[in-house]
Parts: sequence; structure tokens; C-alpha cells
Amino acid sequence: MILVSGANGRFGRRIVQHLIARSPAPVVGRLAVSVREPALAADLASRGVEIRHGDFDQPATLAGAFAGIERLILTTTDGPRPQRIARHRQAIAAARDAGVQHVFYVSLLDVAADSPAECAAVHREAENALADSGLAHTVLRNTLYADDLPQLAGPALNDGILALPAGEGIVSLVSRDELAQAMAAAALAPRLEKHVYELTGQVASGYAAIAGKIARVGGQPLRYAAIAEADYVAAQQQAGLPAWQASALGSLFRAVAEGRFARTSNDFAALVGHPPKSLDCMIHEYFTPRSTS
Ligand SMILES: NC(=O)c1ccc[n+]([C@@H]2O[C@H](COP(=O)([O-])OP(=O)(O)OC[C@H]3O[C@@H](n4cnc5c(N)ncnc54)[C@H](OP(=O)(O)O)[C@@H]3O)[C@@H](O)[C@H]2O)c1
Repeated sequence: MILVSGANGRFGRRIVQHLIARSPAPVVGRLAVSVREPALAADLASRGVEIRHGDFDQPATLAGAFAGIERLILTTTDGPRPQRIARHRQAIAAARDAGVQHVFYVSLLDVAADSPAECAAVHREAENALADSGLAHTVLRNTLYADDLPQLAGPALNDGILALPAGEGIVSLVSRDELAQAMAAAALAPRLEKHVYELTGQVASGYAAIAGKIARVGGQPLRYAAIAEADYVAAQQQAGLPAWQASALGSLFRAVAEGRFARTSNDFAALVGHPPKSLDCMIHEYFTPRSTS
């Protein structure tokens, strides 16, 4: 049986949907999820998915959540860094104790020890905990989500300036949905060629080019301005983001500025069977003005 943790989150839910779509037979008895609030997963139960209660902050829930699971897709949680590191450790220990056969861990493209990104440390710790656990596992390092672009660029369309502390860094964006598709493909694969997959788009672009494309598609002026990380973090907090989240985002863009998200790979296509959508295609999806007629 395959289990997806965090299936009420946007990413986890899409993994489940792709597992259902890719499964050659009904999923009853073969697909389960663990979530903090089982009632919110009622729609999945009606499709034959087994719903289990699992909260990484409550390790006592995890023995039952992971019992009898062969393949565990461990999605990352949100929250401040120490809390996330502790949660992932609890989940990995529980998977080992429950006898899970193989863990598929949703990591981040760059987890280098000298990365300034706070989330790089979270994922590095989890990858290390997996290695130490003795569990068979596959690491799927995700690039940045393309579908965060409307949230990033939407407010910027008002003043025409996309202000980020990303310097001249380039990044290949892929949507949550397509990254989830790759996770599902990996978990269903009879055999995997690699231990670490880098899930990226095929081309990396800078935010100046991205802003130019959004402007052309959206029909409104937009240019990129590289700003200082401290200014960005302050502006995010002023806009209502909790301090930990503003700081995590700022540090992530610093990692982009350092070129840590510049690399691309063909691993997505190797798992899914085709490359992910191009940046142009996604920008058309997100920013083409909707007709009101
Ligand atoms: N690569 C990128 O560009 C990028 C961008 C944004 C976020 N991320 C990361 O990807 C993760 C998933 O993104 P998302 O869009 O799905 O976020 P989301 O919709 O906000 O979902 C949050 C996820 O965290 C899980 N979670 C929180 N606390 C937990 C706990 N105590 N025990 C178990 N699970 C817990 C939730 O599980 P339940 O299902 O139980 O609610 C849910 O799956 C985020 O948490 C973030 O770390 C990556």
C-alpha cells in the first residue's frame, strides 16, 4: 500500500489525484493518506482512498498512520525551521519503526550546507535523517513552484515593479501539479534508476525575463527590480506575513541570487514520460486576461 502524508495540503492532494489517475486498477486497499484533519479528506474516502490520522507533532498518531505501508510519500510541512526539522525527524523515525519499505521524500533543489536558504537546512536535515535511518528511500528535489507567480507578481502589476531580492539569479519554475505528477510517477515506478532526482523545468530564467513575459501576456507594464533582502523581508511582514515566513522567503531568494536554482535536469521527463510545461505556457495560463463576456 502507498501512503501520502499531508494530503490535505495543496501539494499532497495533487499527488493523491495523480496516483488515482495513474493507477491501472481501483485504489481500494492500495492507497492511503495521513492527514491532521481526516474530515477534510472525505472526498478522497469516497474515491476509495483510506484516510488515516497522522500529525507529525503528535508522534503517537504515526504508528497507526504508517502501519502496513510499503511506500510512503513524505511531503514537507510548513512552519518555522526548528519545528519543521523536528517534524520530519519524527515522521522518519515512525516510518522506520512501522517497517515502511521505501520512503519518497519531497526535498528542495539545492540543499547545500552553505546555502543561505532556511528551507535548504530543513531538507538537508531530513535527507540526513533518512540516510541515518537505514530506510530505503528516494529523494525528489523540487525546484520552485511556478504557481506562486500570480501571488508574487499580482500585487506588483499595480505599480509595475516586481521587487524581489533575487539579484540576477535564474530559476526554472515548475507547477505544483506537475511536480506532484512526478512524485506519483516515482512512487508507482516498478524500478527507479536514481537515488536523487532533480525535478526542474528545462530552461532557467531570471526575474527580469519573467516580468517581461508577464507584462506581454497580461497587457500591463511590469519590470523587475532587484532589492535588498532586508527591505523585502520588512515589506512582507508589513503585508501581514509572519516573521518566520518572511525571513524564509527572503533567504530563499538570496539562494536564487547566488545561482543555486539555476541548474536544470531531464529527471522530470525520465519519470513522467515528457518534459514539464514551458514557462511561456504557464504564464499564459496564469496571466492571460479573462474575457468578461
Ligand atoms: N518548492 C517551492 O517552491 C515551495 C513553495 C511553497 C512551499 N513549499 C513547501 O512545500 C510544502 C507543501 O506545499 P503546499 O503548497 O502543499 O502547502 P500547504 O497547502 O500550505 O500545506 C501545508 C502542508 O503541511 C502539512 N503539515 C503541516 N503541519 C503538519 C504536521 N504537524 N504534521 C503533518 N503534516 C503537516 C499539511 O498537512 P495536512 O494535510 O495534514 O494539513 C499540508 O500538507 C510547504 O509546506 C512548503 O514547505 C515549497
